Amino acid sequence: MSIAAATPLVATRAGPLRGECRVPGDKSISHRALILGALAVGRTAVRGLLEGDDVLRTAAALRAMGATLERADDGTWTVKGVGVGGLAAPDDVLDLGNSGTGARLLLGVAATHPFTSFFTGDASLRRRPMARVTTPLGEIGARFIARDGGRLPLAVVGAEAPLPITYRLPVPSAQVKSAVLLAGLNAPGETIVEEPLPTRDHSERLLRHFGATVAVEPTAEGGRRIRLAGEPELAAADLVVPGDPSSAAFLAAAALLLPGSEITIAGVGMNPLRTGLYETLHDMDADISRVNERVEGGEPVADLVVRGSRLKGVEVPAERAPRMIDEYPILAVAAAFARGRTVMRGLAELRVKESDRLAAIANGLAACGVTVAVEGDTLLVEGRGAPPAGGASIAARLDHRIAMSFLVLGLAAERPVSIDDGATIATSFPGFVPLMNRLGADIAQTS
Ligand code: S3P
Repeated sequence: MSIAAATPLVATRAGPLRGECRVPGDKSISHRALILGALAVGRTAVRGLLEGDDVLRTAAALRAMGATLERADDGTWTVKGVGVGGLAAPDDVLDLGNSGTGARLLLGVAATHPFTSFFTGDASLRRRPMARVTTPLGEIGARFIARDGGRLPLAVVGAEAPLPITYRLPVPSAQVKSAVLLAGLNAPGETIVEEPLPTRDHSERLLRHFGATVAVEPTAEGGRRIRLAGEPELAAADLVVPGDPSSAAFLAAAALLLPGSEITIAGVGMNPLRTGLYETLHDMDADISRVNERVEGGEPVADLVVRGSRLKGVEVPAERAPRMIDEYPILAVAAAFARGRTVMRGLAELRVKESDRLAAIANGLAACGVTVAVEGDTLLVEGRGAPPAGGASIAARLDHRIAMSFLVLGLAAERPVSIDDGATIATSFPGFVPLMNRLGADIAQTS
């Protein structure tokens, strides 16, 4: 279960990528499927679950609280739930590894169970802010003792008599929204979350899938108000997890940057609140077509056909950030190959991801010979319309998306790019390296 020892990797300029593939299941939906399955009555079968370290940590935490989760040989997971409010006190610390989603969503769950639990994570997760969830969960009635700065490890004393709250998100965060909604499941009355900009709505969709009553209304300022009726009887409901658009982004970018490439990525989730990167790549003249569009498990899905393209620099508005928040590292890499300047605004949240991604992107691109600047919360990348020099060694900083982004850069740069540790990739995309190599990439372990 723990992440393996450091795995240094090097990516060398490759020929065109070709072939068909699938990417692992969506990380956000996988966490939520397990959590809601554990809170439902009955057995939920989940197919296509992401079996990355992050999701396996959530599975282990749910087991530690009394749910039964089993994996069949064909990869189907079965979750036997305990019903809303039915989890039991774990008898050890819950270690969520690298997973901000697992930690924050489960803090929401624990906040309205009347027991004490303890949460920790790896060095990356222990640096990340948790006050953004403990503040609203405190209003619901939970108590927390956290390390300085509201960080893990922390102890949660779940509310004995939870209160429904109305909470306006101070930052656009699906994790915070989801933590409050999950806590609200075990509170009487209506829990209301208002978000200033719409963020991914997988929790809302899945709550309904499991039988909860969730009303969503637009707000005058362009955001959303989500109202959850408390204390529902959730019923087991099978589901299929679509491929993760955030993982597909690395394959798509590599194919765009390597001339002559043509790949098909089958079964990618195309929830409109996740597709900001694909809108931006379209603006950059990327040749990506969506074929075979369909709805699977309540989520829009398509096959993506991606061909090598000459990209141009664009302006990415701040309002788009919540819909492509995890894709800025790979977009910045693509922008380094484009003709002209790409300006990405509204990136404050990137500083509190698995690493300070704003710094990691800017330093890494500069080391690869790219002209890049950070001005406040804006990132500017000057593309030359040609491959950058590359030739750098990049610290992955326990950040899977930084690791994969710079490997993609190395595949298309003049000189190879190495990363100090690729083990972190297994948090979201197990099998990334062999999959890329099967399509024609050249990524190798260096020692
Ligand atoms: C996620 C929400 C996003 C995203 C993360 C997954 C989720 O975080 O960066 O990878 O599953 O809700 P924030 O909600 O904190 O922006």
